[in-house]
Amino acid sequence: MNGPQRQFSSTTGAPAMGAAESATRGRAYGEPFGRTERTDAWWVQPLVQGLALAILGAYATWAAFQGRDYTFHNYLSPFYSPLLKPKWWPLSPALLVLGAPLGFRGTCYYYRKAYYRAFFADPAACAVGEPRKAYSGETKFPFVLQNIHRFMIYLAIPILLFLWIDIVRGFTFDGRFGIGVGSLVLLASNSLLTMYTFSCHSIRHLLGGRVDCFSCVVAGGPRRRVWLTSTWLNSHHMAWAWWSLFFVCFADFYVRLCALGLLHDPRLL
Ligand code: FES
Repeated sequence: MNGPQRQFSSTTGAPAMGAAESATRGRAYGEPFGRTERTDAWWVQPLVQGLALAILGAYATWAAFQGRDYTFHNYLSPFYSPLLKPKWWPLSPALLVLGAPLGFRGTCYYYRKAYYRAFFADPAACAVGEPRKAYSGETKFPFVLQNIHRFMIYLAIPILLFLWIDIVRGFTFDGRFGIGVGSLVLLASNSLLTMYTFSCHSIRHLLGGRVDCFSCVVAGGPRRRVWLTSTWLNSHHMAWAWWSLFFVCFADFYVRLCALGLLHDPRLL
């Protein structure tokens, strides 16, 4: 008895869309843009993520170029930390420091997936035909530059340390410990940024991803525990990425509203 008939793409020779049940299903490469056998709303996620990235990215760019209203008493917008104001620099101080966090975030493995899908439809979603017919991955310019991500971590961590110093300042009022709503907003923003940074795939690799045998290396036990923590953080990397991006924008927005006199920062302690 003959088995089910397979259909093959004339361009790639692989099983085609609409192939019989037993054939390879759900392939997209080489198929026309947008063609898919998926029946779910696969386009919702890239659409929502693309909109969110565009809105938050536009706000962050606008705020970074303002060069004013970034500080209010003991609060400093995270976009402007560490605050550098050399006399020879005529533009916004944020432009001197944002390269490191922007480079870190822009080359993040998770964000790459998100914006490749949302802005380049490459692919728009799993098992959906894409507009490009040739695939070079990230082996050619300019996308080969994405490989600097593993080095950007060394710039992102010092920035994080400066941000924590700002948090201490945010809880210091007239030389004493105090708490304002802004203190908590900055603390939330920096906590999420810390989670995002330490859930990075590159950090997980540095901590233990390259070790084949923990009992064979120095301090293998503690190292394994640190690596397991990093692994847990890493499994939520997407969530840290979105929450930290939203909160860092919100923290700047909050400080900006206070600096403009549009918001009164309530003191809780
Ligand atoms: Fe996202 Fe490193 S993979 S920050």
